[in-house]
Amino acid sequence: MKRIILILLVFIASQVSAQDAKMNAFISGLMAKMTLEEKIGQLNLITPGWGIPTGSVVSTDVEGKIKSGKVGGMFGVIGAEKVRQAQDMAVKSTRLKIPLMFGSDVIHGHKTIFPIPLGISCSWDTALIRHSAIVAAEEATADGLNWVFSPMVDVSRDPRWGRVSEGSGEDPFLGSQIAASMVKGYQGASLADKKTVLACVKHFALYGAAEGGRDYNSVDINRTRMYNDYLSPYKAAVDAGVATIMTSFNDIDGVPATGNKWLLSDLLRRDWKFNGMIVSDYTSVNEMSNHRLGNLQEVSAMAIRAGLDMDMVGEGFLTTLKKSLEEKRISLADIDRACRKVLEAKYKAGLFDDPYRYIDESRKSEILTQAKRDFARSIATQSFVLLKNTNNTLPIKKSQRIALVGPLANDRSNMLGTWAVSGDPQLSVPVMEGLMKQTSSSVNIAYAKGANLTDDSVLAKQANVFGMRAEIDKRTPAAMLEEALAIARSSDVVVAVVGEASEMSGEAASRSDITLPPSQVKLIHALYATGKPVVLVIMSGRPLALTNVVDGASSILQTWHAGIEAGNAIADVLYGVVNPSGKLSMSFPYSVGQVPVYHSQKTTGRPMDPNNKFSTKYLDVPNGPLYPFGFGLSYTQFSYSDIRLSANSMNATGSITATVTLTNTGFRDGAEVVQLYIEDKVRSITPPAKELKGFQKVFLKAGEAKTISFTIDVNLLKFWNSELKHVAEPGAFEVWIGGSSAEVKTAGFTLMK
Ligand code: BGC
Repeated sequence: MKRIILILLVFIASQVSAQDAKMNAFISGLMAKMTLEEKIGQLNLITPGWGIPTGSVVSTDVEGKIKSGKVGGMFGVIGAEKVRQAQDMAVKSTRLKIPLMFGSDVIHGHKTIFPIPLGISCSWDTALIRHSAIVAAEEATADGLNWVFSPMVDVSRDPRWGRVSEGSGEDPFLGSQIAASMVKGYQGASLADKKTVLACVKHFALYGAAEGGRDYNSVDINRTRMYNDYLSPYKAAVDAGVATIMTSFNDIDGVPATGNKWLLSDLLRRDWKFNGMIVSDYTSVNEMSNHRLGNLQEVSAMAIRAGLDMDMVGEGFLTTLKKSLEEKRISLADIDRACRKVLEAKYKAGLFDDPYRYIDESRKSEILTQAKRDFARSIATQSFVLLKNTNNTLPIKKSQRIALVGPLANDRSNMLGTWAVSGDPQLSVPVMEGLMKQTSSSVNIAYAKGANLTDDSVLAKQANVFGMRAEIDKRTPAAMLEEALAIARSSDVVVAVVGEASEMSGEAASRSDITLPPSQVKLIHALYATGKPVVLVIMSGRPLALTNVVDGASSILQTWHAGIEAGNAIADVLYGVVNPSGKLSMSFPYSVGQVPVYHSQKTTGRPMDPNNKFSTKYLDVPNGPLYPFGFGLSYTQFSYSDIRLSANSMNATGSITATVTLTNTGFRDGAEVVQLYIEDKVRSITPPAKELKGFQKVFLKAGEAKTISFTIDVNLLKFWNSELKHVAEPGAFEVWIGGSSAEVKTAGFTLMK
């Protein structure tokens, strides 16, 4: 058997190297014909602003540039007809007929918009997440695209940062699993397949650690923390074969990522063996001048020398590289390398075989199909996290009279969430509509807006940059409130749909106050005062500080921004058609003053002790979060047995199996995410309190029990030490298994020398 596998592996390896050799020969042949200007042209990625621009500048003289070979790829051009138009210019009018690549920010679906990525990550279901990327790729390619700027894998522990909405939360282990699943989903078995796309993992690196949670801000992280806590999702994407990688806006060790040789050449290319293409973020080459690293020529030279291949929008490469070559600031080898990487990406996507491969107007029928919408609905239900549910207020019985209130209760414009550049909010389902569809006609659902998303016109204006998202009603707040209270009083249950407008999170949407806006808090408290059970449905792009609204709520369902099928999915869960099973991928703080608060915090030299003044703590809030990482309730209950370990010690070549019995002790079928954490009792550098090292999502019928096992080998015990070596150190470890990072069973074992 082993021999057969070996022969098979050798065969596959030889096929791969034969393919590489063929690609290399093709590209070498092509490059031999290219002028210096044509090579530099390939490094230029432009956006004409025909779609939605995602930065403050857009490219000019697009047609002239394409026809004169000054463009390598485009984004923001959506739809087979438009893409064909642009591809025609490249293929029919340029000397060497090199096709363009076409990218887009397909972040959580293309036109069939799924929940925001932070929401999707709360499903902890990597097969489902992979499938979401497959569906998105199919739809994007049906619209002429062959490259997506996703997955975004920046670990972040700061909910002030608006872009936490685009990522998978605070944990590097969960983030790595999701990163790999997304890449595999997008890229499939072959990049040249008409239904797969080149993925682009971003933002390399550490963008999620912006100081103060303020977007684009500086990052300052020491190396061990960087390696142990932040880098692994990017690495997982590289190991999964991601075709391209995007640099980030921030600096690392004082050097912007886009021009950081250590990051791009030493770590990414040399250590991680990444052999795909590296693209800058939107004008991030130019922005190195604002970081004060020199003028455009100097920073462009620095970026290409550092290892950057493609320049997004800013045209620093296009306008200065020739001069820098003449002045010997860069070498021809730098330009050749970058050009080769761009051409390789196109080659892998099959564009040299057929530049029109992804341009097929007849595939329009694959966009926004009912099947895709059904999938969007089902993945949305999996992303919701039930944070509170007293007296089984949820699920709501179909006979109950609902007072549906809140600024997001009958809203379409915010359902898609941030970064849905090709999505049409008008196609989304509001909660009101979703509930109505599932309610018998004899039961009345009364609706009142109750409050504005915000009464603050300055905040509203900022949320309305891409269209009206936070409309300030013409009625007075008092009149709106009175209307809501009147219907609440004559209801059986109040469902208050509150939260953030979609553009209150996302890029350039940091907030220093992450509570619900005062207009909504006022509404919620007034609803509590009616004495009716109140269910809060919270839509947001980040964990909010919910402390001031938690106590009076009977139930809280965190739905994030749930995508095109939001209303239907929310109705599914409120009515109990689907039992919620999401678990938080990011901790919810008591207050912003605790931030960063995350499950793997270190214990410190003076661990928390309520009876000791001189221990690590706040005077006014607990150390831990309001809702911890991994937490999420269900309409049923699960119980965990004690942990059974197959042995109490192991050596570096062995393994231990940790087993629990999980029982669904409630009356409904449901799914539970069983989580494995490991605590390193003694380490040569300070370890996190505990680290997530495994999880399994398990479905159990009411009353059913299952045995769940995790295999622990030395790889799970490794960390990056102060010499940046990946090691496991002998000694005592504690295994934690449970349904959240805060509720666990434990057992100990020893790693022997
Ligand atoms: C964002 C990227 C995005 C790019 C292109 C930038 O502003 O940081 O995430 O892919 O724009 O739209």
